[in-house]
Amino acid sequence: MPALFSWEFASDPYPAYAWLREHAPVHRTTLPSGVEAWLVTRYADARQALADQRLSKNPVHHAEPGKTGIPGERSAGLMTHLLNIDPPDHTRLRRLVSKAFTPRRVAAFAPRVQELTDRLIDGFAERGSADLIHEFAFPLPIYAICDMLGVPAEDQDDFRDWAGMMIRHGGGPRGGVARSVKKIRGYLAELIHRKREDLGDDLISGLIRASDHGDHLTEAEAVAMCFVLLFAGFETTINLIGNGTYALLRNPEQRALLQSSLAAGETGLLETGIEELLRYDGPVELATWRYATTGLTIGGQPIPAGDPVLVVLAAADRDPDRFGAPDTLDLARRDNQHLGYGHGIHYCLGAPLARLEGQTALATLLTRLPDLRLGADPDELRWRGGLIMRGLRTLPVEFTPSAPRHGR
Ligand code: HEM
Repeated sequence: MPALFSWEFASDPYPAYAWLREHAPVHRTTLPSGVEAWLVTRYADARQALADQRLSKNPVHHAEPGKTGIPGERSAGLMTHLLNIDPPDHTRLRRLVSKAFTPRRVAAFAPRVQELTDRLIDGFAERGSADLIHEFAFPLPIYAICDMLGVPAEDQDDFRDWAGMMIRHGGGPRGGVARSVKKIRGYLAELIHRKREDLGDDLISGLIRASDHGDHLTEAEAVAMCFVLLFAGFETTINLIGNGTYALLRNPEQRALLQSSLAAGETGLLETGIEELLRYDGPVELATWRYATTGLTIGGQPIPAGDPVLVVLAAADRDPDRFGAPDTLDLARRDNQHLGYGHGIHYCLGAPLARLEGQTALATLLTRLPDLRLGADPDELRWRGGLIMRGLRTLPVEFTPSAPRHGR
């Protein structure tokens, strides 16, 4: 039985997941926090568990509710967000947010994402080297979601600092994350209050306006909604850009195929490629917490009521019973119903925005810095130690210096 959740495991968890899929596909383990949970690793079981309504997202079904979920969300009064609730409350909130956070709003945001991407690359293009996590993958989703929500430009660097604190403390003591959560909550509550007086075109104003048969979000629900959009949307997208770029740099033939397709002005390989990068080394290693509301069976394994269940998306998406050559990166893969965005009623609400950011970021990097290469030995790279997310701490790169696109 391989050691789970060690530092070596963090750098390459896939052999351990292959072992679990084969020998203990639904496996009870003690997490580093001391909480006991079931890990579900086969694709068919994972997909079924993600859609099983007997698995609740509400921590009241767990014997130790304060020990799971996002640190600090309880004390900050942020428990009623989408990832902590079940139908009918979930159905109601998801319907309201979907009226404001529409694919159309995301599509209209494409030029802004391109501008942010170019501005960030301008910041290091002349230097010939960069840390792609800190200088690119991290700020891009933060500035993008702040812009979309309508956070004023002068406050966005505060957000960047709070988000940075959340990530730095992600694998460590829960207190560090809890402090940032409290600051973000306080800021959002005040901003939403101000926007009510002066509605604009931004997403927060859209959420305040959203109405379904006369029903609206309460002020507390609007705060929790903005919080979950931020929380669910930033570290995930950082890791899509970070893990995705890293996978391309480690698979030069695939990267060359993508570069020639981009040079020919095609977008097909970029689109299937982003999905494959999500499958191959996706940002969300484990789906968020679920709790058995009743005794049930997953993959033949009885699970008692009250037990937490964690669906291991990273293991399911490399299951050889579902994907041909699962450990091979194939950007043109067609039959690719990966679980990187989840499945069922909690399927990622931000998938269109994540796709837009991921596609823009990778296409622009490979086009503007065509000879991009790793600036460190892969063995020296360190992965973050958190439970749910999978991402690099740093990604040093080198390239031929070039002029900034917009001047500075
Ligand atoms: C590549 C980037 C992203 C990935 C891989 C990703 C992945 C996921 C996954 C796996 C879930 C389901 C969790 C579960 O069932 O336990 C989820 C839910 C969610 N995601 Fe994303 N996400 C990404 C980006 C975003 C963005 C940019 C936003 C918003 C700005 C966002 C907002 C949400 C929300 C609000 C939920 C909860 C939906 C619900 O419970 O109904 N995500 N995401």
